[in-house]
Amino acid sequence: MDWGMKNRLSRIFRPETGRTLMLAIDHGYFLGPTSGLEEPYETVKDLLPHANSLMLTRGVLRSCIPPETDIPIVLRMSGGTSILRELSAEGLTVAVEDAIRLNASAITLSIFVGEEGERETLLNLARLIDAGQEHGIPVLAVTAVGKNMNRDARYLGLACRISAELGAHMVKTYYCEGFEEIVRNTPVPLVIAGGKKRPERDALQMASDAIQCGASGVDMGRNIFQSDSPVGMIKAVRSIVQENRGVKEAFEIYQEEKASSPALEPQPA
Ligand code: 5RP
Repeated sequence: MDWGMKNRLSRIFRPETGRTLMLAIDHGYFLGPTSGLEEPYETVKDLLPHANSLMLTRGVLRSCIPPETDIPIVLRMSGGTSILRELSAEGLTVAVEDAIRLNASAITLSIFVGEEGERETLLNLARLIDAGQEHGIPVLAVTAVGKNMNRDARYLGLACRISAELGAHMVKTYYCEGFEEIVRNTPVPLVIAGGKKRPERDALQMASDAIQCGASGVDMGRNIFQSDSPVGMIKAVRSIVQENRGVKEAFEIYQEEKASSPALEPQPA
């Protein structure tokens, strides 16, 4: 692995711990308007000091994030579908040269194993890895879940192993029962997605369970930015990922921050 690749990876996975807290705000690329991301910079500006990296699309990066912001960027390179149609029909949407222009620390795309788009999305992953290898940019494979797919260890483990075999430098998947087997079978760092918003304590429990099973971090979005205390939640998740705190302690961090901040305005329906 060359110096540039290693340097970029060390910007994402903190060298002190080998772990990352990636903040995901790329949801609009297929969901369109997403609650909590109406004004992306308003949402993330107080969260960025606590995150180790930021995952987003080039449109939101260019339009909403000031270029002087000091955060490693994980740039989404796939899309072309919407929630209204077949999600697995994604293609590559960004040239690697543009990722370099935008100073991305890593590039990412989704694969849909077991769905109609399986072959095309896996070949796109291979193409992106070739481009990443050429330019020293690591690739994060996102094991996305189609509308009818089960998030179980058999299916997610299959998708994670295939990603690693194709050469992905890191893989994002969902936490599930038997997660430690997925970690054992995937010879590159694994991070977990948060998924739909759930009660804060449950989300912290999931992050903690994943770390205990060997995950190298989280790539979490809605469970942070849709929380009633996004700063409290990111601090709490960070304490689990980077400081090995337990769920009880992390939940107290969230509660303390929530108590010390003014209540959020109720969102219009
Ligand atoms: C969509 C993604 C999202 O970044 C991912 O789902 C993380 O966000 P959340 O924690 O809200 O699930 O990759 O394919």
